[in-house]
Amino acid sequence: MTDAETMLDRIAAADSLASLDAVRVAALGKQGEITALLKSLGKMDAETRAAEAPKIHALREQVTSAIADRKAALETAELEKRLATERIDLSLPAAETPQGTVHPVSQVMDELAEIFADLGFAVAEGPEIETQWYNFTALNMPESHPARAMHDTFYLERRGGEEEARVLRTHTSPVQIRAMEARGAPIRVIAPGRVYRSDSDATHTPMFHQVEGLVIDRAIHLGHLKWTLETFLKAFFERDDIVLRLRPSYFPFTEPSAEVDVGYTMRGGRRVLGGTEKWMELLGSGMVHPRVIAAVGLDPDEWQGFAFGCGIDRLAMLKYGMDDLRAFFDGDMRWLRHYGFRALDVPTLSAGVGG
Ligand code: DAH
Repeated sequence: MTDAETMLDRIAAADSLASLDAVRVAALGKQGEITALLKSLGKMDAETRAAEAPKIHALREQVTSAIADRKAALETAELEKRLATERIDLSLPAAETPQGTVHPVSQVMDELAEIFADLGFAVAEGPEIETQWYNFTALNMPESHPARAMHDTFYLERRGGEEEARVLRTHTSPVQIRAMEARGAPIRVIAPGRVYRSDSDATHTPMFHQVEGLVIDRAIHLGHLKWTLETFLKAFFERDDIVLRLRPSYFPFTEPSAEVDVGYTMRGGRRVLGGTEKWMELLGSGMVHPRVIAAVGLDPDEWQGFAFGCGIDRLAMLKYGMDDLRAFFDGDMRWLRHYGFRALDVPTLSAGVGG
């Protein structure tokens, strides 16, 4: 018969959960030595049993608790070993180089935010599913207004309880209203985002991107608008010879309204911005209509401002040389690899927003 000391030695020597379990079975299992001792009690006379029973029970206690302690120690050691081998060194370079690219539209939006942040503009957002009030009415386009029809609007099915169907916003101008409601005046914001029109051909896609600009303050005039647009476009195209031409136009939400042309020249079959040789239309703008200012509860006698709206896809095409708008939204990997930007190419004014 093994003595207590030997059993405890064996437990201490067990170097894995499996070998510890073997020791346990040999001592406490059905055929185990301690089990046999317990069984032998029945065959003893009363006197011997009274003397032996406490010793055998004590031995069982001692061995059971030694096994439990050893088991806990082995489990801890095993966990620590696993944690040590599983540790991930986050400072190591990724095993595979990242495959994705930043879409030129996202890149240009980042560039716009960077340029306008420097001029004190915040970025504002609004929903793409919009009410007719925000998309049209508050922008001085009442229901009978012909401009509503001009927008080729996508209307949503009316939901129960809704007085008017909601629309997919046809421009980013409703964000003017939402931003003024949320922040009051004075305010300087740009609002880049997706817009939708039921229109699709070589130069139109049903979804495209615009950026809206809005400045409301005291004593704002057309000169501020022209300076802001010039400063923005010079920074965006990284050219000092950008020349703008403001042409009288009409938008319901501005008075007066101006369409802004930018001068360019043709070089090697490509448009290169700068100079005054030829002109192309780039964006719509104007002084915010007093009715729009009043629609958000501000006093148009106290507050004036300007607004502009510009196609982002177009800006990207002019800057980065793509000539087919539809390719922007095809998700063709070859196009994305060619025109996309590396994820860490964050545009900054100091390092250049040239991409
Ligand atoms: N919302 C107009 C459009 O989508 C563009 C526009 C024109 C926006 C003049 C403006 C603006 O803020 O002042 O055609």
